[in-house]
Amino acid sequence: MCGILGYIGNREAYPILIKGLHRLEYRGYDSAGIALINRENSKLNIYKTKGRVSDLEEFTKGKDISGTVGIAHTRWATHGEPNHINAHPHYSQSENLALIHNGIIENYAVLKESLIRKGYVFQSETDTEVLVQLIEYIKTDNNTDISTAIQLALKQVIGAYAIAVVEKENPDLIIAARKSSPLVVGIGQDEFFLASDASPIIEYTNQVIYLNDEEIALIHRNEQLRIINLSNVEKTPQITLLEMSLNELEKGGYPHFMLKEIFEQPRTLRDCMSGRLNTGNGRVVLSGIIDHREKFINARRIIILACGTSWHAGLIGEYLFEEFCRIPVEVEYSSEFRYRRPVIYPDDVVIAVSQSGETADTLAAIELAKQAGAFVYGICNVVGSSIARNTDSGSYTHVGPEIGVASTKAFTAQVAVLTMMALNIAREKKTISEQQYLALLSELSGIPGKIETILQQNRYIEDLSKIFTYAHNFIYLGRGYSYPVAVEGALKLKEISYIHAEGYPAAEMKHGPIALIDNEMPVVVIAINSTTYDKMTSNIQEIKARKGRILAIVNKSDCKVREMADYTIEIPDTEECLSPLLSIVPLQLLSYHIAVKKGRDVDMPRNLAKSVTVE
Ligand code: AGP
Ligand code: GLU
Repeated sequence: MCGILGYIGNREAYPILIKGLHRLEYRGYDSAGIALINRENSKLNIYKTKGRVSDLEEFTKGKDISGTVGIAHTRWATHGEPNHINAHPHYSQSENLALIHNGIIENYAVLKESLIRKGYVFQSETDTEVLVQLIEYIKTDNNTDISTAIQLALKQVIGAYAIAVVEKENPDLIIAARKSSPLVVGIGQDEFFLASDASPIIEYTNQVIYLNDEEIALIHRNEQLRIINLSNVEKTPQITLLEMSLNELEKGGYPHFMLKEIFEQPRTLRDCMSGRLNTGNGRVVLSGIIDHREKFINARRIIILACGTSWHAGLIGEYLFEEFCRIPVEVEYSSEFRYRRPVIYPDDVVIAVSQSGETADTLAAIELAKQAGAFVYGICNVVGSSIARNTDSGSYTHVGPEIGVASTKAFTAQVAVLTMMALNIAREKKTISEQQYLALLSELSGIPGKIETILQQNRYIEDLSKIFTYAHNFIYLGRGYSYPVAVEGALKLKEISYIHAEGYPAAEMKHGPIALIDNEMPVVVIAINSTTYDKMTSNIQEIKARKGRILAIVNKSDCKVREMADYTIEIPDTEECLSPLLSIVPLQLLSYHIAVKKGRDVDMPRNLAKSVTVE
């Protein structure tokens, strides 16, 4: 994870880098650091501290922060505890070089040992420090320039990296390189920006270049940007124009990004479906599918690859594709799939779901599927992300930047895209009746309006949340389409409130979890109108019999569960297959309010980071 940044130009680098670090803080917040070259006194100053970017600002007060070139880092630790010594940037032994890194150097131990034998002394426990020492060693030993030293060093490295390096005696140059970790260069007027994603760059320029694996960017002050690869072949930089707006990156009056993003869902779902779902002519148009129609129609099987919340969206996809398209589906954790020699057929369609488009395990799992000849479709949010670029085709979710670490609006849009895909393919395959197809289309287009009515209950849910702040454990239960919602609801609660929560298929409860139920255990049941509604009411009775405290998500038209539950939250009636798009919303709000009441850092919960670019 980690966020990396760089600036070179005519302005002071410090304020630009600090502002950028705040935007990238969602990627990691164990420590923050900055390296600046002051040309006046030829100093390369590094300031770093454990904690947040605000701690770094405090730490640099009264220090020499001048310089028009600099690099900065916000860390999510993989190697070495989150303290100030392990914080980036790292100096080389001579303190002539400073380096920041996002990723993992897998062979760091071997490299470190050999450098120690050559007399190098290490300050930190990180894998990263090996890189900067290795570059310095190669530079001195081969008496070569910094870019050649970086090329040679990276050839020895196994693992993932996005790095940026500055050199004291070379204040007109930043060198950056990537492999399996994202890196974007922004091109301004006589200035360049560098970042892990485009969010810190957008307020200065909309012209960016996404580096590809094993590419090195030579960013010289007042010169054209040069890109070379590890074998020194010159590449032509491909400029992309950013469409993101600055407003999308601000909190817009909400206390937290998460709450803003929950409230954005009616709009983001409309954006996601706009131009794709047309109830007028009864069509669902997803260009990524149209171009590869035969692949989907003839698919022997669909494999959905994802992690975390995106995996939960994938589970809903499984229910949809199997019900409507009659195609067998397997939903796989990318991290398991990639290491267990899975059987993949060339006529499988693989769907990779990822908000960030940078999740390392999902990227590796995609590679495996491609090697086996399968067609890979990506559902990503971040435009131009690695997964979007490494798949054969795909659909963006178009929800704008999701900053809160807990995924909310990306989840509902992933489910909406999967629903549109399933409807489109089912109609092509004629596995759905025209009547049902049109009814679902019309119902889907009305979902954003129904979410608006759920959001009106925010105050009520906030009040309800006070009752549950005492709890140390929660159980979430659902059946059918509500089962993935239960698991996602539990994940939302645990990641931001640190309350232990488990999501289960309601009928599985009897096979173990029921032992946990007593009069202190809150049980959230998603008991909406469905084919298994009566079964669900029996499960609720089983919990009641053991004195569990029941919070039920019910439909407006519900009579039965309302009578049994201790507390209820209503959602509008809808088709069962579309219900996750509604039932997840009160659960997002519930987790949010419980976490706020418990004084948690909702947008940046401990130990987590927004995009998991390391395995
Ligand atoms: C969601 O709330 C989590 N923070 C996390 O599980 C996330 O969904 C997961 O890391 C996958 O990320 P991706 O969608 O960017 O691939
Ligand atoms: N491996 C580096 C460290 O622990 C970078 C971590 C990351 O990018 O997540 O400092």
